[in-house]
Amino acid sequence: MILVLHGPNLNLLGTRETDVYGTVTLETINEELEKLARTEGVSVTIRQSNAEGELVDAIQKAVGRFDALVINPGAFTHTSIAIRDAIAAVGIPAVEVHLSNIYRREDFRHQSYIAGVAVGQISGFGTDSYLLGLRAAVSQVKMQQAAKR
Ligand code: DQA
Repeated sequence: MILVLHGPNLNLLGTRETDVYGTVTLETINEELEKLARTEGVSVTIRQSNAEGELVDAIQKAVGRFDALVINPGAFTHTSIAIRDAIAAVGIPAVEVHLSNIYRREDFRHQSYIAGVAVGQISGFGTDSYLLGLRAAVSQVKMQQAAKR
């Protein structure tokens, strides 16, 4: 089971800063994720929240229910020690994803509080960032399962 979390303002994809994020909607991204999950034989649960505390709650509640996490923390990437701490606390492998290449943008986007507790980060490939992120999460789960055998 893989949990996909979308952070603040990602519900506005499709109309939000289309020069940066394109015109793809969150609904379309979610459909693509569900399709890939079916192909990979895994189940995904997808949530979006604009609230930092709700994202922290979702990460905490993932313990015992999910084997890996794909997270686009949105602007909280650059501000949230709370989300970083939650990921570190639960110990569930997390893949950080961004639609845009945060390192080509404003300086304040170059720092991620999440990267240091993530397995890895995928940034700059639009919808593909999520799909690559889901693939990475699936491999993490398979590695965990192999290690248990
Ligand atoms: C983002 C990049 C963040 O800097 C920004 O605040 C977002 C979206 C991305 O997916 O490219 O909301 O996480």
